[in-house]
Amino acid sequence: MLRRPRRNRQSQAIRNLTTETHLSVDHLIYPLFMIDGKGIKDEVASLPGNFRMSIENILKEIEECMLLGLKSFILFPAIEDQHKDKIGSYGYHPDNFYLKAARTIKDKFPECCIISDVALDPYNIDGHDGIVRDGKVENDETLIQLCKMAIAQAEAGFDILGPSDMMDGRIQAIRDALDQRGFKNTGIMAYTAKYASAFYGPFRDALDSAPVEGSDIPKDKKTYQMNPANKQEALIEAELDTAEGADFLMVKPALNYLDIIHLLKNNFELPIAAYHVSGECAMLIAACQNGWLKYEEAMPETLLSIHRAGASVILTYFAKDFAKMQLNLPITN
Ligand code: PBG
Repeated sequence: MLRRPRRNRQSQAIRNLTTETHLSVDHLIYPLFMIDGKGIKDEVASLPGNFRMSIENILKEIEECMLLGLKSFILFPAIEDQHKDKIGSYGYHPDNFYLKAARTIKDKFPECCIISDVALDPYNIDGHDGIVRDGKVENDETLIQLCKMAIAQAEAGFDILGPSDMMDGRIQAIRDALDQRGFKNTGIMAYTAKYASAFYGPFRDALDSAPVEGSDIPKDKKTYQMNPANKQEALIEAELDTAEGADFLMVKPALNYLDIIHLLKNNFELPIAAYHVSGECAMLIAACQNGWLKYEEAMPETLLSIHRAGASVILTYFAKDFAKMQLNLPITN
């Protein structure tokens, strides 16, 4: 045998030399759930180790993460029912605690990067990412609301906005709205290929944001989120988002869509982000809690595989634990 691939695997030192993919905490974004109030830290039952937190606890969390070298956060608000309406107007209301919290975070930690969520679902009485009229999710009317949210978020100090709504034309509409008001440096991480997936369950529990039941309300998000059977269509979305001015292209979920991550990586120059979503993380946590998998081994392997597929940025609920592992600190959950 002239070729013996095992020669390059025979010691740790040689394996280090031949390692093709390196994942560091620099690539990770940590999602945090926020709630209005004081002293709140409620665990999300379907996503153990993750909490709905009020501002002081969010600040504490961010401080701890920054010390671990984890500097980027995507923030999601849980909104009380009294603030929900048909058009999601609380999303840009001056009293909105989410916007106030962004200002506080950036005042305290100017060097961190905070990413927003642009979509109506936390604020919408129907639980949809857009305005529901006559049983349908209205595209163009929703764009006007998304732009108002985007401007309010840019004003509040978010570094990057994350339109997760999947309306047509939203990246251009938001980019134009931001530029007209002088927010030329506020970035956009487009949820480019966001699939109508069954893996968002724990997230919707955390925010109480699932589509509401009603005869005139679509029961799922299939008229705007992508069909899990489709791949070519991801190229159309990516072309549009690129042309419309996105700074990052995101694929969501991540693990069941590694082929899509790879496809976009090979066809586009923009950095590719992958959202390792709540249901994907919950599955792994559950298996580890049952003693069926070892968290310290399965978790980093999972993140590495997403990176290897082509995602330069990974949004994951495991970001903090990964950061601890890199520093050889114990994980306590
Ligand atoms: C809402 C939004 C969702 C997620 C991020 N933004 C849920 C949805 O589309 O219903 C899911 C994230 C996760 O499951 O971790 N626009």
